[in-house]
Amino acid sequence: MTWTTLLLMLLLLLVLLFFTLTRRSRLKREPPLDKGIIPWLGHALEFGRDAAKFLTRMKLKHGNIFTVRAAGRYVTVLLDPHSYDAVLGDSECLDFTRYAQVLMDRIFNLQLPLDQPAKAKETMKRHFLGMNAAALDSIISRHLRALLKAKTPTNQKDWKEEGLFHLCYSLLFKAGYLTLFGGEQNNNGADPSSVYDEYKKFDGLLTKMARGTLRAEEKKTAHSVRKRLCELLAPAGLTEDPESSPWLHAYLQLLQEEGIDREMQKKAVLMQLWATQGNVGPAAFWLLGHLLTNPEALTAVKKEFSQISQMETTEIPFKDKPVDTPVFDSALQEALRLTAAPFITREVVQEKSLRMADGQEYLLRKGDRVCLFPFISPQMDPEVYHEPQKFKHNRFLNEDGSVKENFYKGGRRLKYYTMPWGAGTNGCVGKQFAINTIRQFVYKFLTSFDLELCDPNASVPEINASRYGFGMLQPDGDLLVRYKPKNKD
Ligand code: HEM
Ligand SMILES: *[C@@H]1O[C@H](CO)[C@@H](O)[C@H](O)[C@H]1NC(C)=O
Ligand SMILES: *[C@@H]1O[C@H](CO)[C@@H](O)[C@H](O)[C@H]1NC(C)=O
Repeated sequence: MTWTTLLLMLLLLLVLLFFTLTRRSRLKREPPLDKGIIPWLGHALEFGRDAAKFLTRMKLKHGNIFTVRAAGRYVTVLLDPHSYDAVLGDSECLDFTRYAQVLMDRIFNLQLPLDQPAKAKETMKRHFLGMNAAALDSIISRHLRALLKAKTPTNQKDWKEEGLFHLCYSLLFKAGYLTLFGGEQNNNGADPSSVYDEYKKFDGLLTKMARGTLRAEEKKTAHSVRKRLCELLAPAGLTEDPESSPWLHAYLQLLQEEGIDREMQKKAVLMQLWATQGNVGPAAFWLLGHLLTNPEALTAVKKEFSQISQMETTEIPFKDKPVDTPVFDSALQEALRLTAAPFITREVVQEKSLRMADGQEYLLRKGDRVCLFPFISPQMDPEVYHEPQKFKHNRFLNEDGSVKENFYKGGRRLKYYTMPWGAGTNGCVGKQFAINTIRQFVYKFLTSFDLELCDPNASVPEINASRYGFGMLQPDGDLLVRYKPKNKD
């Protein structure tokens, strides 16, 4: 035997030893285990390509709870909405922050102390809920009107054509940026269009950054785009005037007090740009897209809006007094049901016995992750919603026009029947602000402009399947629309 063969055999032995030691099998009382055939990687590729399809397949094979291997990690997926509280309610064994930190590091190259996000959230609540919310609503409303106005010269009579996704995303992003990152009042902020253009490049690479699957040249692009965005955002929130972007001001102060250096602060601001601006535009797109392709729904929403505009005396509707818009609310809820697809992920930091609604108990292993995917159930579950693929604008309304909150699965009423905002203590802080913003935008657009599909037979684009798990979905391609200011005479 030569030295080389001996060495090779030794190597083989080591590899074998490695796989035996790291081999995992299902223990008694653990959920069904599906490792996939590829060592270490497991199901990662299929998971990333189209998570909804993959998890639907796993659900058919294993039922409402199972553990899959993906890129070396074991993820227990729970798909029974009646059992979601068992995960959402236990922040002791199931930790939110750790996985959030992994993502922050991968996407923003950002490292913050473990307790920092909770403090930041308190700051955010102070500014986005209660009294301060009304002030934000009126600021963003002003920006929305100005941006819409700027899209068409006053004397324009001809139609203007544009992709609806691009239109919604860019307009709402700019309005949100101006409102929260104070771009314009102090004149030291970056131009919203350049921030949007860079942000879109970043957004396109986001899912790959989160999964750690960037190719070499994409990695380079990601780095440079991130750097440029940080530079563009650098002046934001630093003005002496606390009246402009008070939330960002307070956030930066908090980071300062924690002793977080300036470079890290800039990355944290970029993360906040993503958290606050990444979902609103796509949500508005899906709502308008479904309305335009469902004439009956569009008519119903327009009718509700015209009743409001007849009562309105001020320029800004919904501002001083709460106005009920049940039809609009239901249509938005329905659009979100079809296109909001966040994973709700927790890390098991202490072994846990998970009790399902049907009485079954499963052990969750320390070090694994638990993931809820409400998109599959309840949102697209045929047991909960009749014809779940269809957009029905009045799905969340009762016969008498009141809000419908009773939905059932297996004969029992569901506590969670749609979860676009997450749930529990880690649910979305910006929910009300986001709803108000989208309502302002759609109201303004539909009451001041004629808006229609370029191809009256067009339907909403397909979903880009690579984005499941990251909040609002985005379309594959766009929906071409045309618009012009309404004749006022
Ligand atoms: C249509 C628009 C939006 C959707 C669909 C949405 C959805 C979500 C979801 C699913 C989560 C995660 C919940 C979890 O992991 O359990 C979340 C978290 C969050 N959202 Fe939103 N969001 C939207 C708009 C906004 C806006 C406008 C803001 C701020 C102005 C905002 C601020 C936040 C923050 C700060 C968190 C983190 C909460 C935490 O740390 O626990 N969101 N959002
Ligand atoms: C789908 O999304 C991914 C990730 O954002 C992106 O790279 C890809 O270009 C998108 N596909 C289409 C057709 O838009
Ligand atoms: C739309 O579809 C209808 C029926 O399929 C057809 O008659 C009509 O020509 C189409 N219109 C356009 C603009 O393609």
